[in-house]
Amino acid sequence: MDALGDQRAIEAMIEQASLDFSHCDDTAQLAQVKARYLGRDGRLTAMMKSLAGLQGQARSDAGKALNAAKQAVESEWKSREKTLANQALNAQLQKDAIDVSLPGRGCEDGGLHPITLTIARIEAIFRSIGFDVADGPEIEDDFYNFTALNTPQDHPARSMHDTFYVEGGLLLRTHTSPMQIRYARQHKPPIRVIAPGKTYRVDSDATHSPMFHQFEGLWLDENISFADLKSVYTMFLRQFFEQDDIDVRFRPSYFPFTEPSAEIDMRFGSGPMKDRWLEVSGSGQVHPQVVRNVGLDPENYIGFAFGSGVERLAMLRYGVSDLRLFFENDLRFLKQFDR
Ligand code: DAH
Repeated sequence: MDALGDQRAIEAMIEQASLDFSHCDDTAQLAQVKARYLGRDGRLTAMMKSLAGLQGQARSDAGKALNAAKQAVESEWKSREKTLANQALNAQLQKDAIDVSLPGRGCEDGGLHPITLTIARIEAIFRSIGFDVADGPEIEDDFYNFTALNTPQDHPARSMHDTFYVEGGLLLRTHTSPMQIRYARQHKPPIRVIAPGKTYRVDSDATHSPMFHQFEGLWLDENISFADLKSVYTMFLRQFFEQDDIDVRFRPSYFPFTEPSAEIDMRFGSGPMKDRWLEVSGSGQVHPQVVRNVGLDPENYIGFAFGSGVERLAMLRYGVSDLRLFFENDLRFLKQFDR
């Protein structure tokens, strides 16, 4: 091949390669140009192949010249590759640069939700007078939520609860009262316990939420009376609201699991809600059938129970007028509570 002997043609090719490499801006382009010269169908490779057609001294000279050319092209390629790598690194460093003179981003303190704070407060007060605090499942079965609480399948009181049913015959507990049964079956009297937690009903407006919180109270012993329940609940309310001038009254009511049953009303002696009777809890003497359902003899044991709404107490304590504020999680609202 004529060109083989032509040192100038080789030099021109090296120069062209160097120029082509210098125009590469990224590794993909670089690989393309490399293939154009050094690849299987590359220019240099083709020249190498045509060595086969030469003989003797001519072949050896041409071979040396092409080897030198190959090294030169490879070194052009490597040097461009290095330059590109450096450029990429510099760009990355530039991008990640930290301006140490900028003010820090800071870390805001979180806070507890007012309902969480309220439950903690309720627990602390009842613990201080010897009540245990129990926790139980939010997904219940019919037995604990209704039947064991003296509310069999065809009982009209079932319609008081709009129940969310889930798969497998289970339901979302409509009240915390099933905890009376669970706890009393696992503990021996005297029993004093509260069980706070989430409850669910098909209901939603300014005063009802499909998920809300209750705390159940159960006091089961040999010689106790409504007077004991009244004194404990009155003490609780006075501590909860940090106010001594609170009156409490029991108003006759109906629940299937208590007999007699009472609504607990309270009245502030001062402050913005002064002199209004406010309903705060259901309560009653545990029905003899329910006492039997937890394995005890109602001839020997008497129980008092109450079930109160946590949101209701929180609204009264904090002066919140719309229940939904507790569930919207607007930080402007939530930030106002620290105790
Ligand atoms: N479980 C009732 C409800 O959710 C509240 C209640 C009433 C609980 C009387 C009690 C009780 O323990 O004795 O409406």
